[in-house]
Amino acid sequence: MIKTIILLKESGSLEKRVALDPKNCERLVKAGFKVIVTPDAGINAYFSNEAYEAAGAMVEQPSFDEKAIILSINAPTKTITQKFKSGSLSISLLDPYHNLSLVELFAKQGIDALALEFIPRITRAQSMDVLSSQATISGYQSVLIGADLSPRFFPMLTTAAGTIRPAKVLVIGAGVAGLQAIATARRLGAQVEAYDIRPDAKEQVESLGAKLVDTGVNAAGEGGYARELTEEERAQQAAALAKHVKEAHVVITTAAIPGKKAPIIVTQEMVESMLPGAVIVDMAAETGGNCELTKVGETIRVGEVTITGPRNLPSTVAIHASEMFSQNIYNLIAPFITEDGFNLNLEDEVIKDSLITYEGEIISDRISTLISA
Ligand code: NAI
Repeated sequence: MIKTIILLKESGSLEKRVALDPKNCERLVKAGFKVIVTPDAGINAYFSNEAYEAAGAMVEQPSFDEKAIILSINAPTKTITQKFKSGSLSISLLDPYHNLSLVELFAKQGIDALALEFIPRITRAQSMDVLSSQATISGYQSVLIGADLSPRFFPMLTTAAGTIRPAKVLVIGAGVAGLQAIATARRLGAQVEAYDIRPDAKEQVESLGAKLVDTGVNAAGEGGYARELTEEERAQQAAALAKHVKEAHVVITTAAIPGKKAPIIVTQEMVESMLPGAVIVDMAAETGGNCELTKVGETIRVGEVTITGPRNLPSTVAIHASEMFSQNIYNLIAPFITEDGFNLNLEDEVIKDSLITYEGEIISDRISTLISA
């Protein structure tokens, strides 16, 4: 049984979010937990130490002398992980594919580690799904960035100075982020086209008032995700998409394959064909980019086209991103709270899929095969 929750302060310079907001902190205190908040953990999301104290938390440097649920947005550093008490449970966006040595450290120290990315895409888990809540934010922000960089209006305007036609926005990848980008661009009055390789996307795109670009490629993968395309499918996709990229004023790319480098969809040749003043917002920049020319964390000009590859978009909306993340965490933990504290249930489908280490073993097949390879 775990009776303590520790909230870490994020260490990355670009990270403004915090994994537990005062509201959900209070709910966990009321559920019987001792909640220890690292000083200034919420400060960049505008949650003061006093707000956590008012919620019933103890604001102090954690000593890690008892087992605890240890919450963070990003994977904890190795230095701090070495202090965790054996039997603790770390919950974070662990990015296990890229943090194998940290996974090994968790196992060695007897820390159970849960990777939020591995929460299954099942109906019951929707309220726990931080990938969805944070992608919603990224999708919204990407449109605002595109509108800001574009030398054109988004809406149609009829004015005494003439009629302005609406901007054409193309959204590539109509998952959670892409659908929010479509909705936001539509609210701003743009004409929106969207493209995805999952057949389910058609209905979702059309329900938001956008037009689906059909390239004839269908690549639904496992668990609601897409699969990687074959060489032939990639060529077919490129040929059909080129015309739409050429005519767009703003292209927003969000395509991703879990655990893999982002697929290159917008080639240099396509960029060179684009209109003067056109903008590409490459939301996949951090995982390699959907555009061949993207530079992560930079905004560059290629001829008369602007390409931006923003980093950590959810962090730029730190208050709401943290509130949504915290709510997801609360929903994840709540079913396992008893009168005596928190008890992990390995039979639960959500836990079974997302737990990477347990009692000193790497129990996730997806990760253990990579480590033994
Ligand atoms: P994601 O972030 O992994 O990928 C974004 C989008 O890129 C996906 O729609 C994918 O199909 C698309 N994509 C990949 N390769 C592409 C290519 N070459 N060209 C064009 N598009 C490409 O996915 P995300 O947004 O996290 O989720 C995907 C879907 O999973 C959602 O739309 C939804 O249907 C389902 N889902 C279900 C949930 C649940 O039931 N709990 C929660 C969240 C999502």
